[in-house]
Amino acid sequence: MALREILRYPEPLLKQKSVPVTEFNDELKQLADDMVETMYDAPGVGLAAPQIGALQRLIILDCSAKDEPDDLLVAVNPEIIAGEGDSLEEEGCLSVPGYWANVKRHATATLRYQDTDGNFCEREADGLLAIGMQHEIDHLEGVLFVDRLSPLKRSIFRKKYMKMLKEKEAENAGT
Ligand code: NI
Repeated sequence: MALREILRYPEPLLKQKSVPVTEFNDELKQLADDMVETMYDAPGVGLAAPQIGALQRLIILDCSAKDEPDDLLVAVNPEIIAGEGDSLEEEGCLSVPGYWANVKRHATATLRYQDTDGNFCEREADGLLAIGMQHEIDHLEGVLFVDRLSPLKRSIFRKKYMKMLKEKEAENAGT
């Protein structure tokens, strides 16, 4: 396993669409392992392959509480086949550090996906896991949670975020 760099907004690759996985080989398992290590290290509750620069339809999630055992979900070619109800919860993203905002999602979701051996599986979820499934699948379409904000909120986000990036660059440059 290896820790990978997490790409950050406004990296253009994050806007690209990922392609379906067709080969369930060691390379895929290696990619999944790297994502798991990178997500737990961050730490985060979800990660999509494009966030580490691999434009493949692969996501991972672990929304278990701190005092619960790990509940790792590795989903290849994931699709939401049913979603119901409305939810408006605060989201963040490892690719958009330092920013959180409320996003509208389905409250429950049924995920159809393949495991890393290619077997088809389904998983129903509500709460954080249902939201995470929708958030991570968005990444495979090149969509970030900030893209789902109203135009006004999005433009406020951009200004704030780009200002923060500049400040960080200035710090790093020692000025
Ligand atoms: Ni994200």
